Amino acid sequence: MTRAAKPATARRAVASLVAAGLLGAGVATLLSPALRAQSAAPGQALAFDRAKGNCLACHTMKGGDVPSTVGPELSDMKMRFPDRSTLYAIIDDEEKRNPETVMPPFGKNLILTRQEINEIIDFLYTL
Ligand code: HEC
Repeated sequence: MTRAAKPATARRAVASLVAAGLLGAGVATLLSPALRAQSAAPGQALAFDRAKGNCLACHTMKGGDVPSTVGPELSDMKMRFPDRSTLYAIIDDEEKRNPETVMPPFGKNLILTRQEINEIIDFLYTL
């Protein structure tokens, strides 16, 4: 009795393994762009949050709703700032580069943590 059931059970097991494999591959394909976008999402939220980066108050940025011309448009960031530490320094304390700037020294004034600045840079590199 149990013998007769075995091959069918085995076939079902193989079938579900194959299905799981196909599903896994499908999910992985679907997720990879989503995962890439996800890595920039926390930085985008921080950049757009009025209580945090509030970068949109001064910069036009892709995905932002209000254009602003107080500071330059933030675009082509990877090409213009290939060195990550340059971008970090600007966000951390732009007053070092330009004592007259209106851009808040986000790191120095503890508005953004080191990790938050790095998340924002991950987002900037998608612009
Ligand atoms: C109160 C206005 C203001 C806010 C808010 C602001 N910035 Fe700026 N930012 C400026 C100005 C003005 C400049 C031009 C350079 C200067 O003043 O030294 C600038 C320059 C920059 C630059 C150099 C751009 C270039 O093309 O040379 C980067 C990068 C930058 N800001 C990123 C940010 C990010 C990221 C945020 C949010 C976390 C932010 N800024 C928030 C005003 C602002």
